[in-house]
Amino acid sequence: MELNNMASLFDPYDLGAIRLKNRIVMAPMTRSRARNDALAPNSATALYYAQRATAGLIISEGVLVSVEGRGWAYAPGIYNSEQVAGWRNVTNAVHAKGGVIFAQIWHVGRSSHVSLQNDLQAPVSAVETQAEGAVAYSFDENGTLAYQQQSKARALKIDEIHRITAEFVEAARNAIAAGFDGIELHAANGYLFEQFISGALNSRDDSYGGPSIANRLRFTLETVDAIAAAIGPERFGIRLSPYGRYNAMQPFADEAETWLSVAAELSKRRLAYVHISDQTTMGKNGIPQDFMQRFRHAYNGTLIVAGGYLKDNGQAAIDSGSTDLIAIGRPFISNPDLVERLRNDWPLAELDRTTIYDGGNKGYVDYPLFECAHLTAGARL
Ligand SMILES: Cc1cc2nc3c(=O)[nH]c(=O)nc-3n(C[C@H](O)[C@H](O)[C@H](O)COP(=O)(O)O)c2cc1C
Repeated sequence: MELNNMASLFDPYDLGAIRLKNRIVMAPMTRSRARNDALAPNSATALYYAQRATAGLIISEGVLVSVEGRGWAYAPGIYNSEQVAGWRNVTNAVHAKGGVIFAQIWHVGRSSHVSLQNDLQAPVSAVETQAEGAVAYSFDENGTLAYQQQSKARALKIDEIHRITAEFVEAARNAIAAGFDGIELHAANGYLFEQFISGALNSRDDSYGGPSIANRLRFTLETVDAIAAAIGPERFGIRLSPYGRYNAMQPFADEAETWLSVAAELSKRRLAYVHISDQTTMGKNGIPQDFMQRFRHAYNGTLIVAGGYLKDNGQAAIDSGSTDLIAIGRPFISNPDLVERLRNDWPLAELDRTTIYDGGNKGYVDYPLFECAHLTAGARL
């Protein structure tokens, strides 16, 4: 076993030039708290992330690159000046607490609803398509928030694909201008990039789709290259979900080969990391174990894995050499001091499901630290 594999979850990790204080990553989680016309993060967002700054790395909630990219009500963006100013407050607050934060930049593609689009236009995708049974948190005909069937999407033209790549570059530049330590390209969970990569969905008959794996990967890799040229590959990671079924994505014949090609192509590009989202805890099948081993061999950089991890299975994954860093999602919502709780084997607070996407500050910035909760409980005795 290599020395590297003997590391503890709580040991530092050098992500390129960025030193992470431990190997626990806060996974990206949409919280729908940007409830203003500009869709900008506010002071509560700054507090929320600063409270969680003991994570080795925070990956922000998905942040939209354009109005067209929206698919979840009140998710924030990074395409206007109010948004950039709001994010500047967030990154300042996290840095003041010694944290490191990347922005996850996002376009949902077909996974949207017309009520979230300009002038009720159809969402866009690789082809004309609708994600049967998949919902978008959006507005019904009375303007009330509701989980509604995602709308039918239209196929993007080639010049529009190039336009979206340019929007991602702009968003990455805005993120750096707002003080983020880096960005994560959201190419997971059935959103726009995965819609192009999927052999089940992308039946385009031009150079951006069809049976050819290279064609299906073209949009993602062109965007990766354009972002790397703009901000540098060393502060730029990407999230993928091989075998993902979230957002009604379907299996396809050369699925393993497709994702291993992605791994090989990304290896050449020397990004900060690849982040794999396993959807077991999102109610879908997990990634086959043998495939994860093949992916690990095919990709030569830092790997992060997410999906159902805590201390023991996270440490076991690091010990086995199957990953370098562990990302944790839901437990970070209800445990701002998750790292300390795991380190000390303190009990975890339960997640209040009713305030995940709603509730203002409740369920957002009012989960107590363990020691505070403990002292308060003690004082009551
Ligand atoms: C409320 C919520 C919002 C999420 N939003 C995002 C998101 O914006 N971007 C993303 O890539 N994944 C998102 N995810 C998926 C998480 O990043 C993570 O992969 C998933 O929760 C599994 O990890 P866990 O079992 O540790 O929670 C979200 C998950 C939850 C629970």
